[in-house]
Amino acid sequence: MKIQIINGPNLNLLGVREPGIYGSNSFESYLPKLKEKFPDVEIEYYQSNIEGELINKLQEVGFSYDGVVLNAGAYTHTSIALQDCIRSLKCPCVEVHISNVHKREEFRHHSYISCACLGVICGFGLASYDLAIAGIIANK
Ligand code: DQA
Repeated sequence: MKIQIINGPNLNLLGVREPGIYGSNSFESYLPKLKEKFPDVEIEYYQSNIEGELINKLQEVGFSYDGVVLNAGAYTHTSIALQDCIRSLKCPCVEVHISNVHKREEFRHHSYISCACLGVICGFGLASYDLAIAGIIANK
């Protein structure tokens, strides 16, 4: 089983960026722990701050992998292009957020991508990614 994790804008700054909201661990330091939890799953990781590059990666993996875990960052709340892309893929995509976006500013309450995703996980810190992978496995 192959799953692609994709992180969007500013998530390269995890551990440094607003640690009160996003925690003090980088994604790179969390990834080995995540891989240990799912020894039977091949987990790939990609991050970009650029919307078109996220779309390119989704198109690259979305017809051959078993699932995508996508934290689109702020593009979640703005991007119809990401919604269209996710709708076009063959594999399921799970939307994740580290923070509980519904407890935050109102502009974070709407997602343009949820309606194209298999499910949405938010508010569990980096464990949101574990839960998203478990969701893809459960849906297989
Ligand atoms: C986020 C929530 C978004 O609203 C925000 O723009 C992010 C991170 C999260 O993981 O909690 O960049 O997706």
